[in-house]
Amino acid sequence: MIDAETMLDRIAAAENLGDLEAVRVSALGKAGSITALLKSLGSMDPETRASEGPKIHALREAVTNAIAGRKAVLESAELERKLATERIDLSLPAAEIVTGTVHPVSQVMDELAEIFADLGFSVAEGPEIETQWYNFSALNMGESHPARAMMDTFYLQPRTPDEEPRVLRTHTSPVQIRTMETSTPPLRIIAPGRVYRSDGDATHPPMFHQVEGLVIDKGITLGHLKWTLETFLKAFFERDDIVLRMRPSYFPFTEPSAEVDVGWSMDKGRRVVGGQQGWMEVLGSGMVHPRVIANCGLDPDEWQGFAFGTGVDRLAMLKYGMDDLRAFFDGDIRWLKHYGFRALHAPTLSGGVGA
Ligand code: DAH
Repeated sequence: MIDAETMLDRIAAAENLGDLEAVRVSALGKAGSITALLKSLGSMDPETRASEGPKIHALREAVTNAIAGRKAVLESAELERKLATERIDLSLPAAEIVTGTVHPVSQVMDELAEIFADLGFSVAEGPEIETQWYNFSALNMGESHPARAMMDTFYLQPRTPDEEPRVLRTHTSPVQIRTMETSTPPLRIIAPGRVYRSDGDATHPPMFHQVEGLVIDKGITLGHLKWTLETFLKAFFERDDIVLRMRPSYFPFTEPSAEVDVGWSMDKGRRVVGGQQGWMEVLGSGMVHPRVIANCGLDPDEWQGFAFGTGVDRLAMLKYGMDDLRAFFDGDIRWLKHYGFRALHAPTLSGGVGA
């Protein structure tokens, strides 16, 4: 027969949950002593069973209760010990849960919005399916302009025979027109977004991204344009040694027009923006053509302005050192992990990306 006293003493003496569990297994486990007693009931004659049964069940209950009681005591002691000895430092940064990254194109668009917001520009938007008026005619692009050709532009099937086919916008410049039509100057906007051209080689995907800039005010000169571009490029590339060169050029919607080159230099075998070892073209720009201003219902004798346009994908490649444009639109998770950004990682004019 088991000595109940000894068993209860062992339970009371268990110093920790591990010891207590050992006692429990030795008594109530599969091969435990009390379990054996319970099994033995089956082979007893009825009389013995009637007298022994209640004792054995009482013993099991006493032991079970004692274990539960001791367990509660040990657990609360353990909690007290933890509370007394362990400290949680609430000032430590929380473990980061990374569920995805911001695509470099979205990142750069955010950076542009941030930088130009510091300069007093707001962000304007327009539709990707455009009318020929907004995409071409209002921008002073004549009937014979090559961009209008089917081979250069995606046209949509008209819904009725007499409807003029709409186009997938070939640039963000139509947002200039829409903004001038719907707001009262002075205006300062940028318009980032997707544009489409009927191309398809390694460096010219059929869809890419541009950002447009437009300022309409009184007494605006090329000087304002140059300062704005210089300030923007310095903030974007986070370098003070940015040198610009403006080359006379032609765009139908600006007069005069300039292509803007930025100086580059070699850094660890890579061509980077900044310095002056050579030039690369980064922007198209100019003073808004008076005819475009008039097309929007404004008086060109009263209002002047400048405009510029550039490729967002290209800005991203130049700043972050990606050399294959196709990878931008492949959706390869490994590429996105490598080149993607954490949320809210945007620069300001004064502080750069780290601010
Ligand atoms: N829309 C032009 C293009 O897609 C870029 C451009 C050039 C935009 C000059 C402008 C500008 O606003 O002034 O090639």
